Amino acid sequence: MSFKPLRKAVLPVAGLGTRFLPATKAMPKEMLTVVDKPLIQYAVEEALEAGIEQIIFVTGRNKSALEDHFDISYELEDTMKARGKSLAILEGIRQKPGSPVYIRQQEPLGLGHAVWCAREIVGDEPFAVLLPDELMNGSPGFLKQMVEAYEKVGGNIVGALEVPDSETDKYGIISPGARDGRLVEVTALIEKPARGTAPSNLMIPGRYILQPEIMRILEGQEAGAGGEIQLTDAMAQLIGQQPFHGFTFDGQRYDCGDKAGYIQANLALALEREDIGPAVLAFARELIGR
Ligand code: G1P
Repeated sequence: MSFKPLRKAVLPVAGLGTRFLPATKAMPKEMLTVVDKPLIQYAVEEALEAGIEQIIFVTGRNKSALEDHFDISYELEDTMKARGKSLAILEGIRQKPGSPVYIRQQEPLGLGHAVWCAREIVGDEPFAVLLPDELMNGSPGFLKQMVEAYEKVGGNIVGALEVPDSETDKYGIISPGARDGRLVEVTALIEKPARGTAPSNLMIPGRYILQPEIMRILEGQEAGAGGEIQLTDAMAQLIGQQPFHGFTFDGQRYDCGDKAGYIQANLALALEREDIGPAVLAFARELIGR
């Protein structure tokens, strides 16, 4: 089958990050670091690895550090060059000149509204959405794994991950149909179902490949769970009209929107590193033994 290739990704980054106050009072939560990289960079690297050519950041007030992070810092680079230091550490995330786009979501009306704010830039093309709070540590990256599935089945694909029953009320939940390997047909979607009412424990971990028709649905989408315009509610209306699958994640997921998840990500990724892993492991062992 042939489908329009996936070239664009929307990264909603307008959230206030109140769960991480006071750290996020004057700094975007997406700039919080996991080891030595800001959270946002993990999502950008995942998107670029998957072949994404244009990243559309949906930002808000007080988020200019994000734009600076993905720009060239002449002063820093000149100083590093003069000192004979390698610039390799700054280069992996460089995008084509003029390529990244920053638009603002003026009001915090929900994830669906944030995605809809990108409609003019997305145009009539499929697009990915990555929520940077969700750090998906896999090889290859999760979006790349999803793109491979997209090239087979097309349509809309959301990430799918099992969570304990006690957590289904925190997420968008998939009602699963027929399974084919890691792909599962989506028969219904529900955002943050009340405890005990979830159709399954397959949650959507913030990775999406969507067809542009979702934008027209979002245009008229009413507020749902939490009084917010929900992407999940708009996606639910595409089921039956276009192919819609879930794709299970093979890797480790960290919910960095949550303090414990964020610390876990730092610990796990530090332990994977050759330079600091052994020292962190030795300290962790000592701490646990105390
Ligand atoms: C959002 C989505 C939800 C998804 C979750 C993943 O919820 O609405 O469907 O499962 O991200 O983290 P939020 O965390 O913004 O409440």
